[in-house]
Amino acid sequence: MPTYLDHNATTHLDPRVLEAMLPYLSGPSANASSLHRYGRIARDAVEQARVQVAQLVGCEAKEVVWTSGGTEANNLALKGATASETASRVLYGATDHPAVMEAAESLAQAGWRVEAIAVDTNGVFDFAALEAQLADGPLRLVSAMRANNETGVIQDVARVAQLAHAKGALMHVDAVQAVGKIAVDILELDADLLSLSAHKIYGPKGSGALVVRSHVDLRPIQHGGAQERGLRGGTENVAAIVGFGAAAELARLELEERAAHVQVLRQRLEAGLRTRPDTLIFGGNAREHLPNTLQFAIAGWDGEALLMALDRKGFAVSSGSACASGSGEPSHVLLAMGHDRVTAKGAIRASFGKDNVPGDVDGFLAALSQIVASA
Ligand SMILES: Cc1ncc(COP(=O)(O)O)c(C=O)c1O
Repeated sequence: MPTYLDHNATTHLDPRVLEAMLPYLSGPSANASSLHRYGRIARDAVEQARVQVAQLVGCEAKEVVWTSGGTEANNLALKGATASETASRVLYGATDHPAVMEAAESLAQAGWRVEAIAVDTNGVFDFAALEAQLADGPLRLVSAMRANNETGVIQDVARVAQLAHAKGALMHVDAVQAVGKIAVDILELDADLLSLSAHKIYGPKGSGALVVRSHVDLRPIQHGGAQERGLRGGTENVAAIVGFGAAAELARLELEERAAHVQVLRQRLEAGLRTRPDTLIFGGNAREHLPNTLQFAIAGWDGEALLMALDRKGFAVSSGSACASGSGEPSHVLLAMGHDRVTAKGAIRASFGKDNVPGDVDGFLAALSQIVASA
């Protein structure tokens, strides 16, 4: 079995989550909107999951809107929160996920002013630049990720929210990578909208949610059914939603244990890499990172070439993000942090999960040394 060090791309389904899902995959499978008893069983399961997801982020169950994942949640946030408004301005983080950046860019075609919030060399927001930007005209929405999928750098989104709210704007937080790794409380973050995805927390792929606080005027971007209070039409994927609920509950109950476990592995990797003079750690001086994520480059190595060599030795990692890999383009995150294209193309991301062990780190460091030495 290869050693899997790519948990920010996706996680495997926790067997306990699978067990919770099985009755809804193999039993009589009803539409949660049907009025008969089977429909009511499905509805109850969907509503129980809504409570479990709400408890993970400290919102009310009725504020959880099911989506097909983080990408749809981000699209619904940006497009849905601007749909009722005459075009003004939207800001998003320069290192945000493409699902935010491209949703924002699509608003530009509808006449919105869309601007990126700059980051410094550590990938952290430049608040002086942001304050100047905020002063420059009307604003409807600010979108920012809590934790970066590539570097693991954590942003002070509560501070961004405070500034956005002072301008009368809404705050959307992409918390897809943060949940399950660090505590996420929507009230502490002061977010109006919050995106989540099940497959990053040992739940099923293709399941996510947008938390929509009750004061937000959000319009649907998909029409055709009254599900989700009319905000997201379509027959619910009951088994996937049940899986998301179960994964959310486990993530809440096991958060501290999981975070402490992966933190040790990350520190072990960082210590090993810091003994190599040819290694650059991206965002290495940021004040806060996810406990499980470390992105680095080895001088003279292309990230994808190194990734494939590591793959041959049985280690599964990413170069940058899984979404951008294979495109041949350097990571927009690293470019936004001021790295040149060659350095950015050297990126390798290791992201640990709850089932990794210290030996995985030692094996990885040894494989890396062998590859570099034999080149
Ligand atoms: C920060 C962030 N936002 C959104 C997404 C998209 O989530 P999904 O894969 O569920 O569409 C990802 C996935 O990698 C992500 O890392």
